[in-house]
Amino acid sequence: MKISAITLTALAIAVLFSANCFGQTGTSTIKDRKWWKEAVVYQIYPRSFKDNNGDGVGDLKGIISKLDYIKSLGVDVVWLNPIYSSPNDDNGYDVSDYRNIMSDFGTMDDFNTMLKGMHDRGIKLVMDLVVNHSSDEHEWFKQSRSSRTSPYREYYHWWNAENGKPPYRYSLFDINHDAWRYDSLTNAYYLHYFSRKQPDLNWENPKVRQEVYGIMKFWADKGIDGFRMDAFQYAAKDTTFPAFPKGFERNFNQYYGMVPNLHGYLQQMNKEVLSRYNVMSVAEGAGNTYEDAHNMVDAGRHELNMAYAFDGVGIARSKGYSLLHFKAVFSKWDSVFAEKGWVSIFLANHDQARLVSRFGNPTPAFRDLSSKMLTTFILTMRGTPYYYNGDELGMTNPGFTKIEDYRDVQTLNEYHHQQNIGSDMTVFMKEIAFSSRDNGRTPFQWDGSKNAGFTTGTPWIKVNPNYTVINAAKEEEDPNSCLNYFRKAIKLRKDNLALVYGKYTLLDKSNPNVYAYTREMNGKKLLILLNFSNTAAKAATTYNGANAKLLLNNYDNKVVNALSKVNTELRPYEAVIYQLQ
Ligand code: NOJ
Repeated sequence: MKISAITLTALAIAVLFSANCFGQTGTSTIKDRKWWKEAVVYQIYPRSFKDNNGDGVGDLKGIISKLDYIKSLGVDVVWLNPIYSSPNDDNGYDVSDYRNIMSDFGTMDDFNTMLKGMHDRGIKLVMDLVVNHSSDEHEWFKQSRSSRTSPYREYYHWWNAENGKPPYRYSLFDINHDAWRYDSLTNAYYLHYFSRKQPDLNWENPKVRQEVYGIMKFWADKGIDGFRMDAFQYAAKDTTFPAFPKGFERNFNQYYGMVPNLHGYLQQMNKEVLSRYNVMSVAEGAGNTYEDAHNMVDAGRHELNMAYAFDGVGIARSKGYSLLHFKAVFSKWDSVFAEKGWVSIFLANHDQARLVSRFGNPTPAFRDLSSKMLTTFILTMRGTPYYYNGDELGMTNPGFTKIEDYRDVQTLNEYHHQQNIGSDMTVFMKEIAFSSRDNGRTPFQWDGSKNAGFTTGTPWIKVNPNYTVINAAKEEEDPNSCLNYFRKAIKLRKDNLALVYGKYTLLDKSNPNVYAYTREMNGKKLLILLNFSNTAAKAATTYNGANAKLLLNNYDNKVVNALSKVNTELRPYEAVIYQLQ
């Protein structure tokens, strides 16, 4: 039979369709493909990333100088913590002007250059949107507190003092844990779920919502690619402020999170802003129930794109954690979004101590291995991976021993609170050395020069003394470094869309040391084996090694124990990915 030109064209089209533009076979059948599902998000904490002007504080020009580094990682999206004008009570999470850049970080021109530099490199930018509260130095709040009849009064939550004390509300950052702050100017209390300098905005007021949509449009019109909505699950409130049961603060999320009106506000925001731009949206927190989380991101409801739930990241404790619990939580979250909706996968961010110090093993023998093993986990689950800057180097907690070394408002206020109630401060100091947010905020370790190459000035927070051993310059040179492993794992995810969309199946569920699962799509099946312990461990895998191809392993000498139908032996903190044929 003669093959005609038409047949050849048809053949070419067929191949193109089955291999599609991503060069992978069988991907045309994936439903609901979205760029933000396939992306790897790299979170930059701008204060600690790179200082360009020697004032000891990271800045936008610093980020600009490192764009090629960011590109080299293979990530697709940068999520930047807040860079708006702010008095910095909570490092930018207290915004005094939503349309301007914090002077510490630079200017709007710097922002424009940074955004263009990212886009030129094919990197998208997601900005933090902090609108559960503003700074008390925002013009709205200044007006609001000035008089009871101010047109801005209803922008915030006030309780007139002649009505007595308002029902107790717990504050996450206040020295007394009291979220109501008395203001003598108008003889009233205002509400602040976070610090006293972060008054909560009144989302029940339609004007506030319109202000926020205006701010979102301002940034979306500049060309940003998405919003991470800070503390958003708390935004809606029952403004009658009913009394909550005694002790509610032990589980305050149940009372504060996802008050019913929130879904309506999200739908309005979607209609007025999100649906009009090609932006992704993710709210911090996912409510109290799986149903809440699901409703928030079920595409048919037109609210947000993905949930960012805390159940997983919260598991690590200074006493250790149970892998069985860890597996159960991640498996449950996967099942909730298996058909509809989408979730974020993360184990660290700027509100947590370092990844390897919390979930892995930061001792010299195991830091590198356990860090790579955790990277493997984050990059092989279904959901969008969020990876925190510095974790690609395996950066660790700094081991601060003095309260003077800490900068974080939450840590410092809690220190005073514990002191005031007579707690054992030795225990407290030990606890914060493990869990304080500042552990994840020490400067990025660029090289072995003074201050890790972060600044020529005095860093705003101490550099981790281990920077001479752990730094990017050194890891660039080593093909087996955490940094290069991170790049390889990202590439593997990109080359295997089964790792993004594929079905997740937990194996060997009751194994207390090994997390084993498969990811499977269109006839391709990958097996991921992760030993979370510091000793050798066996996984009951039931797959035959003869037909398995090794794709990734975190040990340098690449001699992996054969995959066995019965028990596959893994070395301490070993991570292996096989393709099963
Ligand atoms: C959550 C942010 O991630 C955290 O850093 C901040 O302190 C609070 N929200 C308040 O904005």
